[in-house]
Amino acid sequence: MVAVKKLRVELGERSYEIVAGAGLLAQAGKLLQERGLAGKVLVVTNTTVAPLYLEELTGRIREAGFETATLILPDGEEYKTLAQVEKVYDAAVKERLERSSAMVALGGGVIGDLAGFAAASYLRGVHFVQVPTTLLAQVDSSVGGKVGVNHREGKNLIGAFYQPALVITDLLTLKTLPEREFHAGLAEVIKHALIMETGLYQLLSSRIQEVKDRDPAVLEEVVLQACAIKLRVVEKDEREQGLRAILNYGHTIGHALEAESGYGVFRHGEAVAVGMAGAALLSETLGFCPAGVHGETVAVLKEYGLPVTIPREYPAEALYRRMLLDKKVQREKVRFVLPRRIGEVFITDEVPETVVIDTLRRLGAG
Ligand SMILES: NC(=O)c1ccc[n+]([C@@H]2O[C@H](COP(=O)([O-])OP(=O)(O)OC[C@H]3O[C@@H](n4cnc5c(N)ncnc54)[C@H](O)[C@@H]3O)[C@@H](O)[C@H]2O)c1
Ligand SMILES: [Zn+2]
Repeated sequence: MVAVKKLRVELGERSYEIVAGAGLLAQAGKLLQERGLAGKVLVVTNTTVAPLYLEELTGRIREAGFETATLILPDGEEYKTLAQVEKVYDAAVKERLERSSAMVALGGGVIGDLAGFAAASYLRGVHFVQVPTTLLAQVDSSVGGKVGVNHREGKNLIGAFYQPALVITDLLTLKTLPEREFHAGLAEVIKHALIMETGLYQLLSSRIQEVKDRDPAVLEEVVLQACAIKLRVVEKDEREQGLRAILNYGHTIGHALEAESGYGVFRHGEAVAVGMAGAALLSETLGFCPAGVHGETVAVLKEYGLPVTIPREYPAEALYRRMLLDKKVQREKVRFVLPRRIGEVFITDEVPETVVIDTLRRLGAG
């Protein structure tokens, strides 16, 4: 038997559970049944994940008495488009999915966001189950109810808020994740540890080798604690009015770096790592946090194989222009999430441009 841990997400009648365990795919059918789902299930995945986990998942779902259909999409952020969502609709129509049917997303954040948007809109909403198989998807994209796809003019421009009926997190799936993807996911985990005072930071600092070895028992703790932090923020601010912005810690500089380098150079998590190092340096410079916060932030990021500096080829002014272009910029002001200490951050629009530029240079920018 798999040891199972559950995290309940309280959202009134849309409440649901995140269920985590090592080897949990084997119980997927039973979990769907317990959730009260019935009938036909469409599993959406991609060409990389399908050979690894699709047979196991659909087999277990069928064992529990469901009919299954599958759709395998191409792999890559460039396929997070309406054209691929349309393929999901086509499969749903062909398989005669009804309001009571479920769509299951098996994969990373790309598949989760895309299939989630299809589930939110097909027949004005069918049941949606997430089976996240990247660390980023387990702690970030599958939590909080944002689904959607990219437009050629910008990332995540088309989307909805749509909560899943259930999230099934199998820590063993992380074993096959490429090293760089695993580290990029850890950046978001570290972000969660740095924005709120909980036991997560201590866990990450004391169980370094087990985390790096992807020990399923330790990862289960890490993933659930990281989810719990995101949920505490999201439950208070589901529709992103204010508090939820603290989840953007490291993202102001991170997004600028991703955009300026032309996406694909940095993994999102890597850019966020650089951004958190930058936010800490900014905060120290402005006197909002004690000296040492930047050093400690950099140390934990480096411990987990993440970058903390900006390559010289990216000019500070160009990065600042990217920040002004970001869709979240309000009234010409760049918004930063800055640390007060390890475990507490605040939001500010009042960082002078000259200080930002100077800090970007100290991080290595040209
Ligand atoms: N909805 C949200 O709130 C939210 C939050 C953060 C990020 N996102 C989105 O998430 C996406 C990024 O997600 P991601 O980092 O998971 O990327 P991804 O989905 O592209 O997965 C990364 C790579 O790992 C492969 N993969 C997945 N699981 C695997 C496994 N177990 N073993 C081996 N390979 C595996 C994938 O096929 C892919 O090649 C972005 O589109 C981003 O916009 C959404
Ligand atoms: Zn992020």
